Amino acid sequence: MTFESIAKHQCMGVGCGKEGSTLQCPTCLKLGIKGGFFCSQDCFKRNWSNHKALHGTPTLYNPFPTFTFTGSLRPVYPLSERRAVPKSINPPDYWQTGIPRNPAPLFDRRVKFTILDQAGQDAMRKVCRLAREVLDIAAAAIRPGVTTDYIDEIVHKACLERDSYPSPLNYNHFPKSVCTSLNEVICHGIPDQRPLRDGDILNIDVTLYHGGYHGDLNETYYVGPSASADPDSVRVVETARECLDKAIELVKPGTLFRAYGDVIEAHAKSRDCSVIRSFCGHGIHEVFHCLPNVPHYANNKAVGAAKEGMCFTIEPMVALGSWRERIWPDNWTAVTVDGGRSAQFEHTLLVTKDGVEVLTARLPDSPGIAVPFPVPSGSV
Ligand code: MF3
Ligand code: CO
Ligand code: CO
Repeated sequence: MTFESIAKHQCMGVGCGKEGSTLQCPTCLKLGIKGGFFCSQDCFKRNWSNHKALHGTPTLYNPFPTFTFTGSLRPVYPLSERRAVPKSINPPDYWQTGIPRNPAPLFDRRVKFTILDQAGQDAMRKVCRLAREVLDIAAAAIRPGVTTDYIDEIVHKACLERDSYPSPLNYNHFPKSVCTSLNEVICHGIPDQRPLRDGDILNIDVTLYHGGYHGDLNETYYVGPSASADPDSVRVVETARECLDKAIELVKPGTLFRAYGDVIEAHAKSRDCSVIRSFCGHGIHEVFHCLPNVPHYANNKAVGAAKEGMCFTIEPMVALGSWRERIWPDNWTAVTVDGGRSAQFEHTLLVTKDGVEVLTARLPDSPGIAVPFPVPSGSV
């Protein structure tokens, strides 16, 4: 039986094949398998032992077949089932409703920036160290052939093992425990059944909630040997990495939140890259996203300056072509309008008396070391 005949809802019963069958196998329905139709309960029962073998290999499909995609990446559904979180783990306020109770007042000037006391700072140190561990575990699993859903499973389990809630899960109804953003995806990619391929670039954005605080970081990785041998991929990834490093060098009490964008955009331009404007760094502590707003582009009008005891992220997204984005019909995945590649790096930072503590700093054995830029010619 071909998949086309399944789509026309022919009965799957052996020797039956009745057109217009409307009774769908409940397991197929649950797994998001498009077929599995039978003409009657009887036909379904008689064919059950053969039919159930199909459940192990669900039919993969593009859920938005009429959408004009900007590049070559496609969503590969069905998404896996929502992953469970044991009752023993302290969840953030939105875990059931999907709506953060303290809505991030990102553009409300009257709300002051939170200054963390010693206990709050220590809690941020701890959750950020755990988040780094989880990102490194996920990154170590990257290889051609593994799906982004498998990366999600690894992140989810690593969070639970650290008595932490994976902050993305159901945050504003995000369906998964981590964001996985491939190639032309700027950010907020949803882990699905797409296997990684040699030559891809993959951003993994991990956020943990532990002890009442969130810790947030991301890095972009080269998949297989081809990606780090591709000069454009190395240019966009290494430029994004350096943009974050250069911005962090400025962090200390008194530095204006509008200053980072100038440094980031100047460096991106020097590499013939553009800076994404719609997504910004953010305050972070007991709330996932809050003030200050930290734009990554030049001449921005961000309000405020760093003070000792503040925590915020810087997370520049840098593209090879246009900085403009389009959102997939899943209402999350942000891609470049021209389908050009985009890369991102993120740290959670604590402002100290005279500088900054990078709470999500790399460890000596963290995967994903920088590739020298430019890629020596002839290395491809
Ligand atoms: N971790 C992202 C950030 O850096 C936010 C992801 S929100 C989600 O701010 F809902 F998509 F998970
Ligand atoms: Co962030
Ligand atoms: Co993040």
